[in-house]
Amino acid sequence: MLNQTPEYQSCIQSSEKVSWRIDELLPKDTVLDFSHRFLSDALTGTEAIPFLSTEERLLLNQIRSNSYAHLFLFLEEYAVALAAQRAGLELHGNPTHMRALLRFTEEELKHQQLFARFTGAFAKGFKVAPALLDNQVEVARAIMAKSNLGVLIFNLHMELMTQQHYQETVRSNKDESLDPLFCNLLKHHWLEEAQHTRLDFLEAQKILAESPGSLDAALAEYTELLQALRGTLNAQLALDLQTLEKAVGRTFTPEERQQLHESQERSYVWGFIGMGMKAPLFLSRLRALSPVAEQRVLELAPTYYCA
Ligand SMILES: [Fe+2]
Ligand SMILES: [Fe+2]
Repeated sequence: MLNQTPEYQSCIQSSEKVSWRIDELLPKDTVLDFSHRFLSDALTGTEAIPFLSTEERLLLNQIRSNSYAHLFLFLEEYAVALAAQRAGLELHGNPTHMRALLRFTEEELKHQQLFARFTGAFAKGFKVAPALLDNQVEVARAIMAKSNLGVLIFNLHMELMTQQHYQETVRSNKDESLDPLFCNLLKHHWLEEAQHTRLDFLEAQKILAESPGSLDAALAEYTELLQALRGTLNAQLALDLQTLEKAVGRTFTPEERQQLHESQERSYVWGFIGMGMKAPLFLSRLRALSPVAEQRVLELAPTYYCA
């Protein structure tokens, strides 16, 4: 029998070391600086849209960045449910495992509140009210209807994707023109997500040790969850384009609208699906669970890279 307790203990220690408070990162009265792009173009794909002016590209970048923050708030709704459920399973079981999973739960709730504070500050300062999805509870319930193993694999993807976002578009990029406050949010989000990825892996190992036959179905569920995620991204994209039209104060032609939709869909799919699937740590953790799992993701990846 696998003794994972030292690993759970180490997750608690790392979590205590990097823990931050919302008020330190984003004080309540924060006024955002709308002269900056918030997210790198690698995650918004706004710079290459030929018929938008420089000012309009900046507005689209900011709309996408606000939606990015909102989508984390939105998706962490299921992550809270997952972590709380896994923690509950350790009640009267292993207290170290339970503590690590409760911290995981608490941190996801904190991230939701951080992103909600950001979108609140954004709404206050932006020129129009941004339209955002509001069915996170329904989506979280649909996600949690899958097996815990399927959702853990999906969550591992999401969390290692946030690492890719921070490492590739902030840390290695060193683009001085990006908003420092938003870059700092990405950094601190990832600092806590790093422990979550270890816990997802440990919990997945725990399930597989008890029921080795559950992997196949879980991988099929992961594929379904990616499809559902794509639907959610598309729904937010439709709202982003509505917000953009209001913000720029003109109606796009059908051709422009189509071009905007295609380029932004590519950007969303790459940022949230492609970047997760190709994350080296995602692939190596899957391989450690089973080479079949890594193989399955590698086979599936081209569908999304080319989309
Ligand atoms: Fe999070
Ligand atoms: Fe997380």
